Amino acid sequence: MIYLDNAATSFPKPEETIEYVNTFIRSIGGNPGRSGHTLSIEAARTIFEAREKLTQFINGKDSERLIFTQNGTESLNLAILGLLQEKDHVITTSLEHNSVMRPLMFLKNEKGIEISVIHCTREGKLDIKQIKRSVKKNTKALVINHGSNVIGTTQPLGEIRQVINDIILIVDACQTIGAYPIDIEKDGIDILCFSCHKSLYGMQGLGAMYIRDGIELKPLKFGGTGSKSESIEHPDFLPDKYECGTPNTPGIASLLGGLAFIEKTGQKNIMQRKNELRTLIVQELSKFDNVILYGNHTGNTNVPVISLNIKNKLPSEVGYELNKKEIYVRVGLHCSPMAHKTIGTFPEGTVRISPGYFTKNEDICRFLEVMREIAKG
Ligand SMILES: Cc1ncc(COP(=O)(O)O)c(C=O)c1O
Repeated sequence: MIYLDNAATSFPKPEETIEYVNTFIRSIGGNPGRSGHTLSIEAARTIFEAREKLTQFINGKDSERLIFTQNGTESLNLAILGLLQEKDHVITTSLEHNSVMRPLMFLKNEKGIEISVIHCTREGKLDIKQIKRSVKKNTKALVINHGSNVIGTTQPLGEIRQVINDIILIVDACQTIGAYPIDIEKDGIDILCFSCHKSLYGMQGLGAMYIRDGIELKPLKFGGTGSKSESIEHPDFLPDKYECGTPNTPGIASLLGGLAFIEKTGQKNIMQRKNELRTLIVQELSKFDNVILYGNHTGNTNVPVISLNIKNKLPSEVGYELNKKEIYVRVGLHCSPMAHKTIGTFPEGTVRISPGYFTKNEDICRFLEVMREIAKG
């Protein structure tokens, strides 16, 4: 089988990921921060180490400000719902995932917040001057995705930071973190939200966020933290303020494995390999008469997410044919209806090809061969 759906979650996972989970489940297994016994302390140490390493990885200043969540969606919900209040204005773009748009729409309906959507071009280009022009007195935040999960375009965070002054910059880095450099300081990010199961190579069910010092978010969940057990009030110190209930410690252990793999392989090499695969796919598919490729794939800043359609075929038909040959891609709207309105593929969507570090050139050759057959009809 050939797996080309790494934008949804990376597969296979590196051996390191499997090893760390295996060790945790077999030999540690305690509930962290709850009990005083050795296994509970070992579990807490696993989390501490992952928090430290991940904070360093994004050049955060304080590991207590790194919060583990269930996924990228939960991180974005906490950032958006925890920050915005009545009468706030927020700026976003037409390439956002529903994990951004749905919490924003909820707040619009519930609290009357005002949303300005900056329309990107069909190629995914964002007019940064338009962001500047959209800023108002009550603008609280800009929410933007770093890499598009539909057309792979990345946005220049540093340039964007410069035009928004002290407005809070919330970045959805689900598609970039791990493979593309992200630096909280250099990129001027205030809240970074991401999944840990894509290019960080952790297990599903784990996400994280980094909240810059000075930013207060209203927590969305309350309960047991293992700390301050004498109090019926939820703790207001980090990370406990935003992390409650038994954490996904096996997932956090898997993240340590993912980070070890990235360190061993080199982030640059991972990025380079992904770019090679993207370039190969785009170059070859451009030679097909009846394949439409979306976005702009010149340059080497895109993530390896390629959306296409075959003329006169529905994406679902193409996905069905590929699946029959054990080639696994994603078809449809990829949880981003606005992005498809932007590129002109709403409501049918596209066929999305997303290779990963472990994709081989021969997998791509086989994929192209099958695509040729499907395109011929
Ligand atoms: C750009 C983007 N944002 C948010 C998400 C949601 O992440 P998760 O599936 O970890 O909740 C995804 C997942 O595909 C994504 O690609």
